Order: sequence, then structure tokens, then C-alpha cells
Amino acid sequence: MQLTIGILGAGWVGTSVAISVLHAGVASELLLADARAEVAEGEAMDLSHGAAFYPTATVRAVPVDELGGADALVIAAGRGGKPGESRLELLRDNAKLLREVGGQLRAFQGLVVVVTNPVDVLTYVLAESSGLPPERVIGTGTMLDTARLRQAIGRELNVAPQSVHAHVVGEHGDSEVVLWSSAQVGGLPLRRWPGWHRDREQPIAEEVRHAAYEIIKRKGATNHAIGLVTAALLRASLRGERRVQTVSRVQNGTLGIRDVALSLPTVVDAGGAVDVVTPELSDDERTGLEQSADVLRKALRSLDD
Ligand SMILES: NC(=O)c1ccc[n+]([C@@H]2O[C@H](COP(=O)([O-])OP(=O)(O)OC[C@H]3O[C@@H](n4cnc5c(N)ncnc54)[C@H](O)[C@@H]3O)[C@@H](O)[C@H]2O)c1
Repeated sequence: MQLTIGILGAGWVGTSVAISVLHAGVASELLLADARAEVAEGEAMDLSHGAAFYPTATVRAVPVDELGGADALVIAAGRGGKPGESRLELLRDNAKLLREVGGQLRAFQGLVVVVTNPVDVLTYVLAESSGLPPERVIGTGTMLDTARLRQAIGRELNVAPQSVHAHVVGEHGDSEVVLWSSAQVGGLPLRRWPGWHRDREQPIAEEVRHAAYEIIKRKGATNHAIGLVTAALLRASLRGERRVQTVSRVQNGTLGIRDVALSLPTVVDAGGAVDVVTPELSDDERTGLEQSADVLRKALRSLDD
């Protein structure tokens, strides 16, 4: 099937999304656009020279206004976090950009995947400014945090992360919530896994929450894992896989949450983030999720100040 994926922003993240998408064989055509047109061109040339080593696909740099015909559009433009800066501090600069992009997508027929941070607030901003239905404006949300959590639990237990089923929900950021009470490994509740102690939970949650800061401190950006995450999301959607992924979208009442975009486990298919799953939560997790929604609502309101 001929599928076109457009990527707006050919920086650290956009190019890692590109290489992961090519290896995953999700698109037959990949379009890169960036305000720095020469950079996008150079990246497209470089990526296309590897064509003998990934499933058949072409890669081209295009002006921003040529992305409108893509089946899926990844938004990875904007600036990244600085050391010591919280994701919400990025908000104002990147919100302005996403509002502009959203205004140009009012007739867009495909799926929009927002990666630019703060991803939840910007998912809301883009859904609102584009007027597209909420299931077609998806933020990568806590998919990355969930991937980090699965890796960390797998490392602790010496089990493959693919066999760990545990979710991070809420904000992709400081108020995110790890759902320890429903975490499973190989079909067994994590808390009944031989040798697992609850005192391991807090340090792992902190490790996941601070992962981006630790990486940015060392190399100035995070890119590889988010590239793989975004490719997995695009594959689930464009192939209609109906995987359950912790993506962000404007919520419309699950667990009483509405008027804010945040991550909950959600079935992803060709229509986008279509069915939000109601997770089982302990009282603490429920409170944490409500607080996370409040943090995001406040951030949204701060845009009007
Ligand atoms: N959601 C996540 O889990 C996650 C993970 C990592 C990074 N991020 C976010 O992804 C975003 C990109 O990060 P990065 O490290 O790739 O930054 P980067 O600076 O390397 O790349 C951003 C690119 O956007 C381009 N750009 C800026 N304004 C533009 C415009 N108006 N039109 C077109 N292109 C424009 C820049 O020229 C640049 O090439 C940041 O907001 C970062 O925080 C999100």
C-alpha cells in the first residue's frame, strides 16, 4: 500500500523518527520539512542513500505547505528542553508554533502525531486550532515513559521488556503516574513476582520521570527512543493493528476526565486513538491522575494569561 508520512522538524527527533519509520517499513514515501530548508534537504539525501538497507521507500525534502497530503503528519518542530528546564517552561514558544500549524490543517484528512513538548498541552492546542476530531490528533504522551518503565522493570527482573505490561499515564512529565497496582510480568501481577519488593517502585518511578533530564544533561537532547516510539505508534495506526498504547489525546470523559489532553491506555487503529481504555487504579493512582490532569489544565489556562 502507498502510504506517505510527513515529518515537520528535521532536528534530533524528526530525523530519528525518520530512520525508525524507514526501518519499520511503515511508509512508501517520507517527506521532511523544516524551517531550515537546507538541513531538511541534507537529511533527506543522507536517509535516501540507505535505501538498499530498509524496505522500499523514497525520502524527499519538501516545503512545509506540501505536507498537507500525507496520510500521517508528525510534528517534531520547535525547540527542545534546556538543562534544568521543565517541559512546561517550553510551553509558550512551542504553543505559538503549534497553533499556526493547526490553523493550516483544518482540511487535513490524515492523522497528526504530536511529539513536540510539552506534548500534552500541545496536543490540545493542535486539536483545538485544527478542529480535527480528537482521535486523529495524537500525542506520543507517556508512550516513551511506558517504554522506559518496561525496560527498567525488565532490567530489574532480568526479563525481556516485551514481557512486561505496565503503564505510565497522565502527563508526559513531572506529574506522570506509574500504574504499579496493575503491572504484570508474564501474566503474573508484578507485586507477586518472586523477589519483587515495593521499595523498588519509587526509585524506578523517579528514574523514568527524570530520564529525559539525565539524557539532556549529557548529550543535549533525547531522540532514539522517541523515534522508535513514534514509529511504533505510526505502524499501529497505519496498519490498523489495534494495539493498546499509552498515547495522549483530548479526553472526553474516561474516569471523568475531559477538556484536557493526557495519556491513558488507548486502542490505536487506522482511525487514530479511537478507544480509550479505563484502567484499574488504586486510590493513590486515581488521586495522582486527577492531580496530573489539574497540572495540565493549569498549563493550558496559563496560555491565556
Ligand atoms: N514527546 C516526547 O516524548 C519527546 C521526546 C524528545 C523530544 N521531544 C520534543 O521534540 C521537539 C524537537 O526536539 P529536537 O531535539 O528535535 O529539537 P531540534 O532543535 O533538534 O529540532 C527542531 C527542529 O524544528 C525546526 N523548526 C523550528 N521552528 C519551525 C517551524 N516554524 N517550521 C518548521 N520547522 C521548524 C528547527 O529548524 C529544528 O530543525 C522538542 O519540543 C522536544 O522537547 C519530545
